[in-house]
Amino acid sequence: MHLTLRQIEVFNAVARHQNYTRAAEGLHLSQPAVSMQIRQLEDSIGLPLFEQIGKQIHLTDAGEQMYRYGRSVIGLLDEAEGVFESIKGVERGNLTISVATTASHFATRLLAAFIKQHAGITISLDVTNREALRRQLENNEPDLVVMGQPPSGVDVESSAFTENPLVMIAPVDHPLAAQKNIPLSHFANEHFVVREPGSGTRGATRRFFDQHNVPFNTVIEMTANEAIRQAVEAGLGLGVVSIHTLELELETGRLAILDVQDFPIMRHWYVIQRKGKRLSPAAQAFKSFVLEQAEQFIRLPNQY
Ligand code: PGA
Repeated sequence: MHLTLRQIEVFNAVARHQNYTRAAEGLHLSQPAVSMQIRQLEDSIGLPLFEQIGKQIHLTDAGEQMYRYGRSVIGLLDEAEGVFESIKGVERGNLTISVATTASHFATRLLAAFIKQHAGITISLDVTNREALRRQLENNEPDLVVMGQPPSGVDVESSAFTENPLVMIAPVDHPLAAQKNIPLSHFANEHFVVREPGSGTRGATRRFFDQHNVPFNTVIEMTANEAIRQAVEAGLGLGVVSIHTLELELETGRLAILDVQDFPIMRHWYVIQRKGKRLSPAAQAFKSFVLEQAEQFIRLPNQY
């Protein structure tokens, strides 16, 4: 059996995304190149690693085992790299960060500011939803994660660094846009455009409605906050989104934040690592940067 590290990296990416196209994008490879690496790996092992059911690919039993070992191999190599980086010092390191979809609205600004201060650090950024972040932490994949409430069931160290208010949005000419202090019960008959299952925003909103015994009716779900804003603007339904996703839409007067009783739903952003993880100097520098300086790079819309 002759496995190469490249094959393992490619395999891990396909297994993580359960999707060849997204894996290829993440690796900056063409899809045929990714398929070829997987075929060669399957030939060396002598077993299929994926099976296709409908449009979705799934890991076979052998694939699950390969993924378990694949993550350990890459995890060990990362750890070794971290040791070498600490010998070289902060300014030459690699940093692997994963952020919640919603946090990506400010994460790029944060990274730009961080890189200005530490020009030699190479960063790899993954943007995904809360549930996928929980799995990544479980598998000890990223150095650091930026997400809402720390996940349960994984041993992590987490530090809150700023607020994440969730607000209810409507088209700017919606009749409710002019009303004040609207009771939540009013929304029992409304329909909402929501994020996909696994999204922290969606989970928190549903819990909030449940706690207030108000039915939460959804009309359509979407994986991107941008798509939700556009759908709300087009009148498909109301939305509940993080204030951090809104800047431009509010400034250009396309959406209104409704004045709803007990709103905003207050969440916080956390920087999180696996408990006991030895952070490289680059990762440690990023964590300190987020905790000490992040707030000044997170702009809120003027109207808020
Ligand atoms: P998201 O947000 O998963 O909805 O993008 C993260 C969170 O609020 O936990």
